[in-house]
Amino acid sequence: MGIQVSLGSMTISEKEFHLMRSLIYERFGINLSEKKRTFIVSRLQKLLRAEGYESFRQYYDSIIADKSGKALAELANFISTNYTFFNRERAHFDYFVNTALPVIVQRLRRQKSNDIRIWCAGCSSGEEPYMLAMLLLEYFSERYVSWNAGILATDISSHALSLAKSGVYTDEQVNLVPEVLRKKYFIHQSGDQWAVKECVKKEVTFRHFNLMNRTFPFRQSFHIIFCRNVMIYFDAPTREKLIYRFFKQTAQDGYLFIGHSESLPRDRCPYCYIKPAVYQRTGSLQKVIK
Ligand SMILES: C[S@@+](CC[C@H](N)C(=O)[O-])C[C@H]1O[C@@H](n2cnc3c(N)ncnc32)[C@H](O)[C@@H]1O
Repeated sequence: MGIQVSLGSMTISEKEFHLMRSLIYERFGINLSEKKRTFIVSRLQKLLRAEGYESFRQYYDSIIADKSGKALAELANFISTNYTFFNRERAHFDYFVNTALPVIVQRLRRQKSNDIRIWCAGCSSGEEPYMLAMLLLEYFSERYVSWNAGILATDISSHALSLAKSGVYTDEQVNLVPEVLRKKYFIHQSGDQWAVKECVKKEVTFRHFNLMNRTFPFRQSFHIIFCRNVMIYFDAPTREKLIYRFFKQTAQDGYLFIGHSESLPRDRCPYCYIKPAVYQRTGSLQKVIK
């Protein structure tokens, strides 16, 4: 008899756990350890009950049978961890303004280009890309109109993306934004609700995108990529493959920011290490691929 984990009336057998775990790993890259049985049950039991599934096996089979991808997208909503907050890991935003942007702007001026492309991969409910947009606006100030800048913000969770697109946050969330930005770029709605102003919202394009896609569909490279606190859910081989895909998508001298609790293996990392959780593309891909 295999081990079974039961919460309320929902039970997951060992076989079902392994099926769900493999599916989540293969499709989303999210690596759930053996200890995460209770996590799967607690995240999914409400959904299973609401949709009338009698077992995890039945639920699994229905996801596999669904060719529209809707069931899988719904699973991503329940399984992904969307924890985020404004101004998270503040040192990165300081580096973005004081070093990364000036380096990129200088390079673009030499190239006589005014295109700045920034990608926030794993943007969750929008706090991170909106921070970047506010800082971009502040950095360029009235010169902003002469730049073709903006932020692409992607995530696998359509639920998080719809919160992000609405751009409405509570007092408690908005209080983490530095006062000068908060006063300038948020508008009070009712009760404890604050909305990101349109001038910031229009600088961010939200899209559903799975980082496990083998090819990235972007025609142009990015000058700055933020992918923070996303790869913590991936195992080492998945992280490594993703880093190479990011690298190919990074412009020369462009930056990759990862979460402070994450790190890239120095001997197998195509980027140049700058400081904790900040990397720069200084070489070409040919040099690093063995
Ligand atoms: C913990 S949040 C981090 C949000 C933000 N970057 C931050 O640092 O505060 C991780 C986000 O990564 C997203 N994510 C996880 N796996 C993903 C995948 N395979 N493709 C795209 N996004 C993914 C989750 O949906 C979630 O919103």
